[in-house]
Amino acid sequence: MQMKVETLFATPLARVDLSGYITEDQVAFVDSLTMVANQTNLISENLYILDRPELQGFRAIISQCLKDYAINVMGCDQELLLTQSWALRNAEGVGMHSHAHSNSIVSGSFYYTELPTPASKMFFDRNTSYQRLELPPHPERANIFNTKINAVIPKTGELLLFPSELNHMVEQNPSPEVRSVIAFNTFIRGNIGNFRDVSELSLK
Ligand SMILES: [Fe+2]
Repeated sequence: MQMKVETLFATPLARVDLSGYITEDQVAFVDSLTMVANQTNLISENLYILDRPELQGFRAIISQCLKDYAINVMGCDQELLLTQSWALRNAEGVGMHSHAHSNSIVSGSFYYTELPTPASKMFFDRNTSYQRLELPPHPERANIFNTKINAVIPKTGELLLFPSELNHMVEQNPSPEVRSVIAFNTFIRGNIGNFRDVSELSLK
């Protein structure tokens, strides 16, 4: 007897190499932003950094990636519009606790400067809510169907796009070099629902 297992559903993580798409001036601008304390790491005081005129060229690149994601990953007709965007810095020994992004459809992180070596892993959690029953797999039998957490090692110049409801965390930065990131949220623009069903919602 041989069991054949098929995948019914899957969670996307889009990875785009954008190295070379951000200019030295844009990197210098993000590095010059005023940063404030955010639990253990630092976050930019400006929480709409991609609205700044200095970053409009780069914003257009991100928007193009979001368009690609909406069409080819989500398969939907609506657009993904950037909402809040911010910069983060993790000093040595600093990570980020598990969290998800509220009021957002797709979230992203872009590693706009050289990542420390070794780069902190990002962990994504399969569960989006409290789990009463825990059945962790034996480590040697962990697979895509049973794993609770999946680790990703971001690369310098890479953009990650993922569903905003996914819980994720960043391990502590093991290096004396600072780990810098641009992060953002999105929401849909366009019509959803159906006029005749009185479920129509027009988001402009
Ligand atoms: Fe996050």
